[in-house]
Amino acid sequence: MIEIHTAKEIQTITNTYQKEGKSIGFVPTMGFLHEGHMSLVKKARKDNDIVVMSIFVNPLQFGPGEDYEAYPRDIERDRKLAEEGGVDVLFTPAPEEMYKAESTVIASVKKRTDVLCGRSRQGHFDGVATVLTKLFNLASPTRVYFGMKDAQQVAVVDGLIDDFFMDIELVPVDTVREEDGIAKSSRNVYLTQSERKEATALYKALRHGARRVSEGERNPEVVKKEIRGILEKTSGVIDYAEIYSYPELKSLKTLSGKFIIAVAVKFSKARLIDNIIIEIPDDQKEDE
Ligand code: PAF
Repeated sequence: MIEIHTAKEIQTITNTYQKEGKSIGFVPTMGFLHEGHMSLVKKARKDNDIVVMSIFVNPLQFGPGEDYEAYPRDIERDRKLAEEGGVDVLFTPAPEEMYKAESTVIASVKKRTDVLCGRSRQGHFDGVATVLTKLFNLASPTRVYFGMKDAQQVAVVDGLIDDFFMDIELVPVDTVREEDGIAKSSRNVYLTQSERKEATALYKALRHGARRVSEGERNPEVVKKEIRGILEKTSGVIDYAEIYSYPELKSLKTLSGKFIIAVAVKFSKARLIDNIIIEIPDDQKEDE
């Protein structure tokens, strides 16, 4: 594995790979790697000749009062994990490398962001779309790999690639979970022992919702109310428990087609998110 820090270096190296006709799988991350990230690397390794990973805690996607400074970082450990996972090129730029003193253009995401995390984290997805546009230009990926735990991010990246005619295949990868169901996340380290136990309620609530749908419930309000009921038993504060079409993220009067059940709960030092995507086949639609 080689590690590089500058835009020029990564562009030179990925241009060479392209000229050699090699496919490039790109895994953008903010580091503090866990099994969720490594599952993206594993898939990228399987699908491509070259695997590029970036580790960059992107200041632009953190709002005022969010955890940019405190975001967990451990570059030594990450380097080791990336190498063991089969990453060929690790890109670890400094903030000054990614953002010049004055930016001329910043991405502005117009759809799929007025709900869920986009609603409570104003400007977050503009920051994500900006840094990803830069990183995609640098890494020249054939395929990009994103975890479905951040399903709204996947929906935004889907729109970004489509709207800007990027010749990139988006590969969403299933959420990796602990044995008790909690989704792997860099922020899980912020949970106290008792919160860690309570946090299993998120996936329990989602599974309950999925079960109610499979039993035939088609009213989103009923499903949301029951999910909230489960989350309310924790000491956390519910940020949202919502259901929207996926990936468009539009409200639904009746559950049909492909949709997301998504939850976010704020514990004392960590805000956890999780979701489940469900697709009701056409032949199971309610009679009109
Ligand atoms: O999901 C993340 O870790 C970040 O949002 C990403 C995609 C690396 C952009 O900074």
